[in-house]
Amino acid sequence: MALSFDLDTLVDSESGVISRELFVNPDIFEAELERVFTRAWLFVGHEGLIPNPDDFFVSRMGKDSVILTRNRQGEILVLLNSCSHRGMKVCRHDQGNAPVFTCPYHGWSYSTNRDRVSVPGALVGVPHDEAGYGGRLDRVKWGLPRCPNVTVYKGTVWASWDPDAPPFLDYLGDMKLYLDTALDHRDGSPGGSELLGGVQKWRIRCNWKTVAENFAGDLYHGISHNSANMAEIGMAKGRGRRAALPLRHAIGFDGLGHGCLGFPPAYEERPFVPDQYGDPEIDAYFKKVRAARERNLGDRMRVSMVVGTVFPNMFFHADQPRTLGIVHPISATEVEMWRLYLVDADAPASVKSMLRHYYLRYSGPGGMTESDDMENWTSVTAGSEGPIARRHAFNYQLGLGKERPVEGLRGAVDSGNYSEGNARIYYRRWTQFMKGAPWQGMEPESGKAEVAGDDR
Ligand code: FES
Ligand SMILES: [Fe+2]
Repeated sequence: MALSFDLDTLVDSESGVISRELFVNPDIFEAELERVFTRAWLFVGHEGLIPNPDDFFVSRMGKDSVILTRNRQGEILVLLNSCSHRGMKVCRHDQGNAPVFTCPYHGWSYSTNRDRVSVPGALVGVPHDEAGYGGRLDRVKWGLPRCPNVTVYKGTVWASWDPDAPPFLDYLGDMKLYLDTALDHRDGSPGGSELLGGVQKWRIRCNWKTVAENFAGDLYHGISHNSANMAEIGMAKGRGRRAALPLRHAIGFDGLGHGCLGFPPAYEERPFVPDQYGDPEIDAYFKKVRAARERNLGDRMRVSMVVGTVFPNMFFHADQPRTLGIVHPISATEVEMWRLYLVDADAPASVKSMLRHYYLRYSGPGGMTESDDMENWTSVTAGSEGPIARRHAFNYQLGLGKERPVEGLRGAVDSGNYSEGNARIYYRRWTQFMKGAPWQGMEPESGKAEVAGDDR
């Protein structure tokens, strides 16, 4: 469908001027659902939410509800949570265990396992099939649509509806180095993390990109968190945890749209926040894992202390708190936020308990730092909805011209400490998607995307 707006007028990422229409206009929002959310790789959950066969977790891909499940054959599936008959949600729970989903409206039933049907998601029960359809209803064709691309990466599950999407690791590029710092054990060994508790979900009145760009690399808004810092939200030898941190760099991945605040691999120091909480057992644990991290990671130790966004709507904190998040689009001016928390699987119970308290104090709907951010995001939205405000574009010129390539990372650009370089990269990528050419210029490195399954 043709767009009713001119992208080149709205987004000038070279000179850093971006229209407020991107954040309030319902026509742009509808186009995003089609052009971004049906094509990009989206974070849909974590394996820890579905540890056993037949476990399911209801997730979202843009506005579409999807069922993330693990069947008895060990396959991780993403199925559209919308009955093929009239669209009823076949699963009305957030999470649970079920091998079959029966639609509450007219009773069509869908199986996720191959022991009853040849194709997961196919119909396994149709009321009055003989009398009404003569037994001739095609049970595969009228099954639940299954997402063709599903990948598990270090416990995180990603999916894309686009059969032309490149493999997830190509989509992620060298941003992987930074995402790994959230997914790996604190001692630097791959994996070894587990979910701490469930998923926090809450809604706020703002545009989804406002959240995504903030986590992509906005060091500039530190002033917002002064009160949380003064309250010493995290202890670092009696100083606020942020005060102990050297200024991180905005590192963006041009052409991919991802961005983070972190340190380039060749950074001269090994920055870290001293994890000292005043409890000997907890302090000893962090001392031990830090020493192991030094041994395991060597120079890669330098990239730690990351907060970042994987285009379009997944974000993460790699250190305390260690969280994965998704900002789901609900309307041009409303989002649903989800946060999942990670902890070293083998950490002592006392460490897990302390971190649970710390995470909740920091992040989520009741977190002190997240509350600051939510106030900003809802207020910039309210302040941009009026007809006069909408005529005036936003300024994204911070750090313009300071971009330097990052040695050793493909496509990475370091634009300094206080910079909107990552946001400019993000909106450049967004424009590519909105123009309908997201894969242009992306050289596939390992062929086509993995296809989850062989029969759809
Ligand atoms: S809407 Fe599901 S069976 Fe009719
Ligand atoms: Fe913030």
